[in-house]
Amino acid sequence: MSERPLRLLHPRPVVVIATKCPGGRVNLMPASWNTPVSEEPPTVAVAIDRESYTHQCLQHHKRATINILPVEAVDLIYRLGTVSGRDVDKVSRFGVRLEPSQTVDVPRISGALAAYEVEVFREVEVGEVTLYVFRVLSAWVAPGVADQWGFDFRKVSVPLHGAGRAFYRVEPRPIFAKK
Ligand SMILES: Cc1cc2nc3c(=O)[nH]c(=O)nc-3n(C[C@H](O)[C@H](O)[C@H](O)COP(=O)(O)O)c2cc1C
Repeated sequence: MSERPLRLLHPRPVVVIATKCPGGRVNLMPASWNTPVSEEPPTVAVAIDRESYTHQCLQHHKRATINILPVEAVDLIYRLGTVSGRDVDKVSRFGVRLEPSQTVDVPRISGALAAYEVEVFREVEVGEVTLYVFRVLSAWVAPGVADQWGFDFRKVSVPLHGAGRAFYRVEPRPIFAKK
């Protein structure tokens, strides 16, 4: 068994979670350990290390946005995951622009392909993380990049996180399974 056996479950889509922190500052953290959970109600779970500032911010304010950035943003995504909002204001350090959300008082990231506006629904303590199950209050998607099947990968690509600095893109053409 390798030292990091769960890496075999990568590459995985990476999202950036925006939270509102004590003092009102917005913090941004990438998370690739995320998954849809239920459709009714619509929920998404994210495993968040209890030592992260994001965890502290979610304890302070139970609403957030979950942003899906384009593959071109991998440098920003990686940087957001290498420093803590406890030490730096990542929004100003990395020049991230924010847009107001529709239903929550936490902004979404400008240039995102999509953003879920969420509130904490359940918290499950597992090992070093809190598994946050978020209820999706509304979903915003950039015009023209998705249909009822999801993103149109001929137009855009989303980053899949491998390990460390390694990311993958989604290929434009699907592979159809036989009927
Ligand atoms: C691509 C990428 C994916 C990550 N995924 C997760 C994750 O799913 N859960 C987690 O707790 N940390 C994850 N991290 C690490 C956090 O993003 C990192 O510890 C970050 O500095 C925490 O920021 P904060 O202290 O401002 O909340 C990831 C980092 C990167 C670069």
